[in-house]
Amino acid sequence: MPIGAVVFDAYGTVLDVAGAPRNAAATDARLQSLWPALPEDWRRKQLEYTWLRAITGDHADFARVTADGLDWALDRAGLADPALRARLLALYDELPAYPEVPGVVQALQTARLPRAILSNGTPAMLAAATRSAGIDGMIDAALSVEAAGIYKPAPAVYALATAHFGLPPDRILFVSSNGWDVAGAARFGFVTAWVNRAGLPVDRMPHGPAHVLTDLSPLPDLARALCCSISTPPTAPASPIATKASACPCCACPA
Ligand code: LAC
Repeated sequence: MPIGAVVFDAYGTVLDVAGAPRNAAATDARLQSLWPALPEDWRRKQLEYTWLRAITGDHADFARVTADGLDWALDRAGLADPALRARLLALYDELPAYPEVPGVVQALQTARLPRAILSNGTPAMLAAATRSAGIDGMIDAALSVEAAGIYKPAPAVYALATAHFGLPPDRILFVSSNGWDVAGAARFGFVTAWVNRAGLPVDRMPHGPAHVLTDLSPLPDLARALCCSISTPPTAPASPIATKASACPCCACPA
C-alpha cells in the first residue's frame, strides 16, 4: 500500500536534544568541562525513566521525567545549582531543529503528504518545540503520548497516529532517530525510516528499520517513492468516484 502520511518522532529526530546543554555550555565553564557526559546522562536517564514508568504503570509526564533525568545527571556531576537547573530546563523548550528539518517538512507539504509529530513530549512541550524548530505552521498535528497515558514503545502510542489519520499502520511512514522507537513502530506495523545520525549498529530487536538514512535530507524523495511507486495505473479504468476516494495523497494518482 502507498503511504498516506509521514509521522516524525520529535526529540533527537527533528530536535537536537544536545542543543540545550550546548547553548548553556557556551557561557558556563563548568558545563564545558562536563561535555558530553552531562547531556548524555540526561538523555539516557530521561529515556530510562519513560521505559520504567511505562512498564510499572507509574506514568508521569515528559516534563517531569525530563527534570528527573536532569537532576540525576547534575547529581552525578556534583552540580547542585538550582539556577543552572532552571536554565537548562528552560532551554529544553527552545531546542534547535537539525538544519535540514524545515526544508524537509516544507518539501513534504509541497508534495501534499500529511505530516505529524508523534512524541513522548507533553502538548505544551511539543507546542514550544515545533515553534522553536520553525515547523509549527507546516505540520498537521503534534500528537502527544499524554493522550494514551503511556510512553513509547507501547502500541497504544503508535495507535494515536493511525487514529488521527484514519490510516492502517502500513500506510504510515514513521521516522525516528531512536532505534528502539523504530523497533516499536515497526512492530506496530508502520513503514519505518531510521535516521542513524550517529552511525550506530541496528538494535537487536525482532523488528528493524525498513529504511536507514544518515539525516533527514533524503526523506522527501523516499516518501514520494513510497507514495507513488506501487501506484501503477489500474488495468481497467476506475470510476471517477473510486479514483477520487482512493487518490494518492502526494500526487493524486490512483492509489
Ligand atoms: C520522543 C522521544 C522518544 O520525541 O524522542 O518521543
